[in-house]
Amino acid sequence: MTERRKILVTSALPYANGSIHLGHLVEYIQTDIWVRFQKMRGHDCTYVCADDAHGTAIMLKAEQLGLTPDEQIAKVKAEHEKDFAEFLVNFDNFHSTHSEENRELSGLIYGRLKDNGHIASRKITQAYDPEKELFLADRYIKGTCPKCKAEDQYGDNCEVCSATYSPTELINPKSVISGATPIEKDSEHFFFKLPEFEAFLKDWTRAGHLQDEVANKLAEWLDSGLQEWDISRDAPYFGFEIPGETGKYFYVWLDAPIGYMASFKNYLSQQDGIDVEATFDEYWNKDSDTELYHFIGKDIVNFHALFWPAMLSSAQFRTPTKVCVHGFLTVNGKKMSKSRGTFINARSYLDHLNPEYLRYYFAAKLSSSVDDLDLNLEDFVQRVNSDLVGKVVNIASRTAKFIQKAGGTLSSTIADAELWQKFVDADSVIADLYERREFAKAMREIMALADAANEYIAAQAPWSLAKQEGTEQQVLDICTLGVNMFRALLTYLTPVLPKLSQDAEAFLDETLSWEAPISFRGGENINKFKPLLTRIEMAKVDAMVEDSKQELAAQQSNSTDEAAADADSELSKEPLTEEINFDDFAKVDLRVALIAKAEHVEGANKLLRLTLDLGGETRNVFSGIKSAYQPEDLEGKLTVMVANLAPRKMKFGVSEGMVLAAGPGKKEIYLLEPHSGAKPGQRVM
Ligand code: 2FM
Ligand code: ZN
Repeated sequence: MTERRKILVTSALPYANGSIHLGHLVEYIQTDIWVRFQKMRGHDCTYVCADDAHGTAIMLKAEQLGLTPDEQIAKVKAEHEKDFAEFLVNFDNFHSTHSEENRELSGLIYGRLKDNGHIASRKITQAYDPEKELFLADRYIKGTCPKCKAEDQYGDNCEVCSATYSPTELINPKSVISGATPIEKDSEHFFFKLPEFEAFLKDWTRAGHLQDEVANKLAEWLDSGLQEWDISRDAPYFGFEIPGETGKYFYVWLDAPIGYMASFKNYLSQQDGIDVEATFDEYWNKDSDTELYHFIGKDIVNFHALFWPAMLSSAQFRTPTKVCVHGFLTVNGKKMSKSRGTFINARSYLDHLNPEYLRYYFAAKLSSSVDDLDLNLEDFVQRVNSDLVGKVVNIASRTAKFIQKAGGTLSSTIADAELWQKFVDADSVIADLYERREFAKAMREIMALADAANEYIAAQAPWSLAKQEGTEQQVLDICTLGVNMFRALLTYLTPVLPKLSQDAEAFLDETLSWEAPISFRGGENINKFKPLLTRIEMAKVDAMVEDSKQELAAQQSNSTDEAAADADSELSKEPLTEEINFDDFAKVDLRVALIAKAEHVEGANKLLRLTLDLGGETRNVFSGIKSAYQPEDLEGKLTVMVANLAPRKMKFGVSEGMVLAAGPGKKEIYLLEPHSGAKPGQRVM
């Protein structure tokens, strides 16, 4: 056996203002599989994580929910821990960046950066919300794009024309938080002098710590020149106050990766019989011969492969052995979307489906590349049913009963030595694929073995043989090989399917171990086989998607929710409404209306005046559809109106109802039109 490695592993720290969703789980499942593999191989592997608890988004989220930030982060931490545990993501420690260990380590590292001359300070001018008394990051400002004039665009880029700009260039900018018009205000900020690490980073990013594609991307940034990194934020801010300063806080991304160290330290403090400081130093000193692996998504590479190694090196700590970057999750080939019901929270999945199905599907798709990974829901059902139920579990269910009939003791004879040797030889191939995070290839190897096992069993047909006289030993030998092949497959699948493996251990009456090469087991007893896994029904997947759609309706639109905005910017464009009951709906009197007349309104920029015929009764309605329609094109058309809206006095007269239209605005406004045959005045239900 190779020497016992000491490996510290992390996954990115989830923000403490939102739920874990399937996009997150790609990473946690990937990391957990790798960690379980290392542990199974006998290495000393420690997996730590934490909630990323600081920042404006979390402060605002707490305020919105009427909680203190501490209450908010405690609530979310409990939720996250439960979700992870049910997905069998087995952290050795799950901590919080809002912890004493992190405060101390952040202070220590900042102090060293400062002592080394790597911190600069200067005044900068920023947008400020005068009502909320808060500096505004770009995503908290919205206004009209200075280039294409699209409304409701964020302060740094336009989603319509892709222009990038500074928030001061927005037309009619507004604070997303209070609606106030931002003003400009100066304040002193602290910067990490990243450009001083250019030579170090050019070496480091090419020294085998990163996938080539990641190193190539970073080379582009490094070649175009590094900027100093603003690591401070002004009060009010939920975070750590910068030592020696008043009203200045560490930016959330300064103390987030330090949270990896803090969680490890907190882990050590819970272990018996160890010297916490000495062990911490063993893992983090700059000449450490332990290994450090960070698993992250491709969106946060700059923080982990530029800022973080530079900070660690200045602060005289070791740098990561590897930063393992994965791509994003798409569902059915598209970005996850709440309206399509494909933005699926961990909890919604767990309400309907077995977590190991998803672990297997992700494993079957994961590689060491940064390519995006698609969860195709039909393929998911088909793949899991075919591979896990149809191939793997089937081997045991077809053979175990004959061993029971023969008394429950495995034969000592290997019925087909050549076939068994295939399972033995695959051991190192599969282990190497796990080590290199080539999980999809590992799953393919395993399923090829499962195919070989099933072909063998089908060809030998022990169920037919058992009907003949004097074949008892032959049947037992065949089925013993079947059970051994199942053992080998389950051993190789344990990092992916720990629960299935545990259930199989109960049947096999042994602990599956992979520290030594797989060996044949004969002459021992096994237990009665019980069904291990059921097929996925598409109806359950459909129900999960339906639930996820319902969540959209139940959620309040919250454009300040960083995590949600990051995960699904499409969401911010979707109207979110509160649920109403049928009686509420029935109060709205919708009627088919004939547009008898449409005309411009003098002095009005947006309105047209419509004369609507409700089958005898006429109504005067002002409608903001001028940007999309010429009046003459509307006359004679049928539409749908709210007929019992209380009359509203407007600048140009009284409006006696409202017509219904869809679309984002400007030229894209579409009046609703009933199918032909509808008559003016008819009720719409
Ligand atoms: O992008 C995110 O979700 C961050 N909360 C990840 C932080 S990882 C680490 F650096 F703390
Ligand atoms: Zn634009």
